Amino acid sequence: MPTSKRLNVVVVGATGMVGQAMLAILAERHFPSAHVKALASERSKGRTVPYNGSSITLEAIDEKAFKGIDVALFAASTDIALMYGPIAAEAGALVIDNSSAWRMKENVPLVVPEVNREDIRDNEGIIANPNCCAVPLTLVLNPLRNAVGIERVLVSTYQSASGAGRALVDELAEQTKAIADGTEPQAVVYPYQLAYNVVPGGWYPEADGFNEEEVKIANETRKILHMPDLAIAATCVRVPVPVGHGESVFIETTAKISADDVRTLLGSSPGIIVEDDPHARLYPTPHHVAGKDEVYVGRIRTDPSSKNGLALWLVSDNLRKGAALNAVQIAEHAIELGVI
Ligand SMILES: NC(=O)c1ccc[n+]([C@@H]2O[C@H](COP(=O)([O-])OP(=O)(O)OC[C@H]3O[C@@H](n4cnc5c(N)ncnc54)[C@H](OP(=O)(O)O)[C@@H]3O)[C@@H](O)[C@H]2O)c1
Repeated sequence: MPTSKRLNVVVVGATGMVGQAMLAILAERHFPSAHVKALASERSKGRTVPYNGSSITLEAIDEKAFKGIDVALFAASTDIALMYGPIAAEAGALVIDNSSAWRMKENVPLVVPEVNREDIRDNEGIIANPNCCAVPLTLVLNPLRNAVGIERVLVSTYQSASGAGRALVDELAEQTKAIADGTEPQAVVYPYQLAYNVVPGGWYPEADGFNEEEVKIANETRKILHMPDLAIAATCVRVPVPVGHGESVFIETTAKISADDVRTLLGSSPGIIVEDDPHARLYPTPHHVAGKDEVYVGRIRTDPSSKNGLALWLVSDNLRKGAALNAVQIAEHAIELGVI
């Protein structure tokens, strides 16, 4: 991206799944950095992480770590974001946080640049990066909303192990190996064995029977789209896939639209690739989409069971567009808008 500014950048949680993807994406996209710093816990201090063909020595996070920083990309826990986000913002950094700590706060923009980039201007030092399922969902809903209006959304997710961090990816690999070796797989990180299984839970259950992930997807979708009354409900399921979240989405639109017109509309929308020819066995799968930047959409159908209903399947890399890439894009748009 063309800019004369060179920025000091910090990645918080640089050893984690999202933090590592952030470092890779900053380098790939030639983000205009003067200096990139990597922070993690005390445990990681002194170790190195790869960056741009070289490596960076990890520092432990502390209150002084944000002095002189222009952009602070947070990819650690909610607690770390709550504790250090305001300190980083106070030190003059634009904080872009991947946890759920700040997403629903009134004075914190929740941004998918292709959908609501102007909201970046409203920040008071902290911008939140949405949930890894809400990002691709809103990217796909936005062109439909603009073209024909949206009345109601029902979404079922097929979420990969990496969405729960490195520990579950490792556990899935160990369980798969144990099964192949004929030994008993151990489930420590997740409440159920994930290998050879699908699990409709593992997130904190809310009182009404939904869980925290399902509530996040509904509330964040409403906030990103500026549709506080949108009728939306989610069912979240963890599947034994390392990277890449799938979503089966039913949408009731205000005006009717054909499946062909949806293919054309989404195929010409930024950040979306339509792969939709079931007769040629063309539809997106997580295995194929992992490592890609775009949200892939297929299985587009009109839903005969409802008036103006649509059904579709989407897949995105939860570590990239669902997290790290979207965060880096927010920083790029903040530069373009003159916010940093
Ligand atoms: N994974 C996804 O698809 C995804 C998508 C969207 C949002 N998110 C959110 O992004 C954040 C990171 O997720 P992740 O999947 O990358 O998790 P992860 O792989 O478990 O990594 C967690 C990171 O946090 C660091 N950390 C832990 N305790 C710390 C402390 N006391 N001080 C400083 N750093 C500390 C870890 O450093 P050490 O190695 O030193 O412990 C590690 O770098 C979470 O809030 C998650 O909810 C994740």
